[in-house]
Amino acid sequence: MTTRKTPDVPAHAIEQQLIPYRERLETYLDKVLPAADTVPVVLHEALRYSTLNAGKRLRACLVYLTGEMFDTAPAALDAPAAAVELIHAYSLVHDDLPCMDDDDLRRGKASCHRAYDEATAMLVGDALQSLAFELLGSIESADNTVCPRLIRTLARAAGSQGMVGGQALDLAAEGKAPDLSSLQQIHAMKTAALIEAAVLMGAQTAGVTDSSQLQLLSDYARALGLGFQIHDDILDVVSDTETLGKQAGADEINSKATYPALIGLAAARKAANDACLQAENALSMLPMDTQRLQMLADYAINRIY
Ligand code: IPE
Ligand code: IPE
Ligand code: MG
Ligand code: MG
Ligand code: MG
Repeated sequence: MTTRKTPDVPAHAIEQQLIPYRERLETYLDKVLPAADTVPVVLHEALRYSTLNAGKRLRACLVYLTGEMFDTAPAALDAPAAAVELIHAYSLVHDDLPCMDDDDLRRGKASCHRAYDEATAMLVGDALQSLAFELLGSIESADNTVCPRLIRTLARAAGSQGMVGGQALDLAAEGKAPDLSSLQQIHAMKTAALIEAAVLMGAQTAGVTDSSQLQLLSDYARALGLGFQIHDDILDVVSDTETLGKQAGADEINSKATYPALIGLAAARKAANDACLQAENALSMLPMDTQRLQMLADYAINRIY
């Protein structure tokens, strides 16, 4: 594998390009989330508190940019983009609970169970998950295979052999030093699975059925997802709470199995770079202009929060 090139576009310039997609997603989420005065009021306040006006929206951007690469208009991508962000938001609310990572801060404010209470945080996660699938189930497409395909892709990625399974392995690995391939499996399941689903859902909404193209997109997204989680592990060590909007150093406090803990910072940085290269390599085999997806792979491992 060659050494990684310096990104053509710095992380802050990439952020600029993501703004329209983030704004679009925010508007859509605001519309589909029940109003804060809907009964039960506290639950709906907490749902909106945990979902709106924050987050990098990387997964939504992956849905939009992949769909656009296959000539699909953003309006058709709103529901899948929101669905994957809702599952992600639910995973964060549960991830912060005392029985999991016990984090008090998320996206620059009190985590859901601290702002409300644990039972509410549990229910917020449950409700966000239901809403995600309600949105997908409401998609009307001329091709009636699109909707069930999207539901299957997201359900599989979120479930016991995807994100939820990865979270179980992550907790079981606390205080242990798994071998590198076990740690890679944890990262693949807890993080990369949902990122892969985002890319596939963008393509599926666009009606892509070519299995070799879908395979290359999966390869891209899985590598990006691994790089993204390794970079998250690195930021936890090298950054600060204010920049991250979540507690820095939390992984060490929880004795988490992470790339820096297992192989050291320098090797972790190299592993993130290698994953990014692998992602870009998969893209280079696709026949269309993949520049914007390449930009997101760079962003995954160069972002500052
Ligand atoms: C945090 O995800 C959890 C991980 C999988 C590393 P993000 O870093 O995408 O969190 P937000 O959505 O931007 O807050
Ligand atoms: C979380 O990984 C992955 C999820 C499925 C939520 P982390 O536990 O490292 O995420 P942060 O660092 O709390 O955002
Ligand atoms: Mg965790
Ligand atoms: Mg956590
Ligand atoms: Mg982390």
